[in-house]
Amino acid sequence: MRAIIARERGVGVGDLVLEDRPYPYAAENDVVVRVHAAGFTPGELEWPGTWTDRAGHDRAPAIPGHELSGVVAELGYGTTGLTVGQRVFGLTDWARDGSLAEFTAVEARNLAALPAGIDHTVAAALPISGLTAWQGLFDHARLTTGQTVLITGAAGAVGSIAVQLAREAGAVVIGAGRARDREVVLDLGAQDFVDLDTKDVREAGDVDVVFDVIGGEVLAGAAELVRPGGTLVSVAMPPDVRPKDGRALFFVVEPDRVRLADLARRVSDGRLRPLVGAVRPLSETADACVRTSSVIGKTIIVP
Ligand SMILES: NC(=O)c1ccc[n+]([C@@H]2O[C@H](COP(=O)([O-])OP(=O)(O)OC[C@H]3O[C@@H](n4cnc5c(N)ncnc54)[C@H](OP(=O)(O)O)[C@@H]3O)[C@@H](O)[C@H]2O)c1
Repeated sequence: MRAIIARERGVGVGDLVLEDRPYPYAAENDVVVRVHAAGFTPGELEWPGTWTDRAGHDRAPAIPGHELSGVVAELGYGTTGLTVGQRVFGLTDWARDGSLAEFTAVEARNLAALPAGIDHTVAAALPISGLTAWQGLFDHARLTTGQTVLITGAAGAVGSIAVQLAREAGAVVIGAGRARDREVVLDLGAQDFVDLDTKDVREAGDVDVVFDVIGGEVLAGAAELVRPGGTLVSVAMPPDVRPKDGRALFFVVEPDRVRLADLARRVSDGRLRPLVGAVRPLSETADACVRTSSVIGKTIIVP
């Protein structure tokens, strides 16, 4: 099968290459999925699981990409709950070869059924971003109706879904990001926007929750805004700063079939709109990922 390869630790997205690789093995409780659309998340090439398996052993070269939409091609030994030919979408395992390939093996429990009306290119933009946004806002930060949340990188893949979910939950939403992103973020439902190209994030004012996808100085500044008892969640990096009287945490998104189904329902109902940017073939993955900065919306690769 054709797949995208990251050869060794330290390579950048521009070094991703197309190669022939063996068809994947479906272990117990796995399925092999024929990938119809896949997402690549910025930062993946630095994630530990890209380079080491669960025993900590080197597993290079790696096939990146950890979210997909496709069709079940094969069941592993003892796998139940999904059937061959079924449309599915979800996460692939961090420490195994991923979704930038014609086929990938994945634990069946990481996937959910894809409703008929949702296109594969839209579904592939949902698993990592949707689950990360949900878990960050509601499981970790415990955001509730009437609270104020500041979402950084608000036009990005994770941020744009976080804005929509927070707004629907009845929160007051302040987005922060590049100047060019203002209209997009307000259109998604944010009530206010801080242009980080010209302003300091502290101009957002006090908030109950910060949901950060940028890290660094933006994260440090945003930590100062958290009201007593509030929470700062970053998915970019473990915070080395803490609100004066609040919690600060980092987490890695977990698979959740039930929540995936809920997110898909919201898309079907028109209540949630994943932003899809460029849709490019597998052979153009490196170029597509290098260019993500100039394109609003998640870059989707179609094998
Ligand atoms: N821990 C987890 O489980 C988890 C899960 C998903 C994602 N992540 C991480 O979360 C981060 C965001 O992922 P994503 O898929 O949402 O990426 P994305 O689509 O590239 O979104 C990031 C957004 O933030 C903006 N941005 C970045 N730096 C900025 C700065 N200094 N000032 C203003 N805007 C800035 C980006 O604009 P430009 O493109 O113009 O820079 C983009 O709009 C990545 O680091 C990713 O690895 C972690």
